[in-house]
Amino acid sequence: MLQEKVALVTGAATGIGEAVARRFAEEGARVYLFDRDAETNCRVAASIGAAGGWAEAITGDVRRAGDLAGLVEAARARFGRIDILVNNAGIFPRQPFLEITDEQWDEMQDVNLKSMFRLSQLALKSMMAARAGKIVNISSVTFFLGVGNLAHYTASKGGVIGLTRSLARAAGPYNVHVNCVTPGFIQTESEVRFVGDDEARRMVADQCLARRITPLDVARVCQFLACELSDGMTGQCLNVDGGWVMH
Ligand SMILES: NC(=O)c1ccc[n+]([C@@H]2O[C@H](COP(=O)([O-])OP(=O)(O)OC[C@H]3O[C@@H](n4cnc5c(N)ncnc54)[C@H](O)[C@@H]3O)[C@@H](O)[C@H]2O)c1
Repeated sequence: MLQEKVALVTGAATGIGEAVARRFAEEGARVYLFDRDAETNCRVAASIGAAGGWAEAITGDVRRAGDLAGLVEAARARFGRIDILVNNAGIFPRQPFLEITDEQWDEMQDVNLKSMFRLSQLALKSMMAARAGKIVNISSVTFFLGVGNLAHYTASKGGVIGLTRSLARAAGPYNVHVNCVTPGFIQTESEVRFVGDDEARRMVADQCLARRITPLDVARVCQFLACELSDGMTGQCLNVDGGWVMH
């Protein structure tokens, strides 16, 4: 379904980003995996290659404009275009509201939001010239719920939805689609580090579906938003949360 498409995925070394990269490669895409964790990222790219897919690992920090430019340039130099961008890299350290420092607030916005603005700007130039493209931004249902010890995170994820909507308006005339995925409580290693078994059971009990939602569940929806099946959609936000939040 993504045969020969050129895709960039940030935060691709683990969790949701890794699942997206693997899924896209299985569907025939040429995938650039971007992550600050060089070792794990290279390992994932190598294992995609060993399974018959096309993947290249690029090491970098989404907070550094030069690293993002290097990612876009690598794809353009090799294939002359970028078909798909999945803005996924993110951090979610919990912190009581009164203890959040200016530095922590700024870091959160830089990693989770500003990076998406910068990379979308870079990729959009190429997509506009081709009059085709799909951008998928990863937000979070925490924006709809409000979470007390994640105010800086929740604000950044609301910003991602705002960015998605405005960018969809700006990019639509050029046939570039911009949509957003809001995952719920996803069974990634990072999430498991923060949430114990009891809290996990409580959160699953709040969902309609009585099971943990996995990175692959999220990756499948990203695939839908990256392929022609979603050609009539832009500026939208899809919850992948087992039916936790409804709107
Ligand atoms: N896991 C969940 O339950 C959940 C729920 C809602 C939204 N999300 C969102 O999904 C995305 C992925 O989350 P995950 O659970 O897979 O997390 P994860 O920690 O497993 O993966 C995040 C990846 O991003 C990379 N990364 C972090 N900061 C970076 C930086 N500055 N530069 C480059 N790479 C960086 C990390 O090295 C890691 O490989 C995030 O945006 C997160 O906010 C996750």
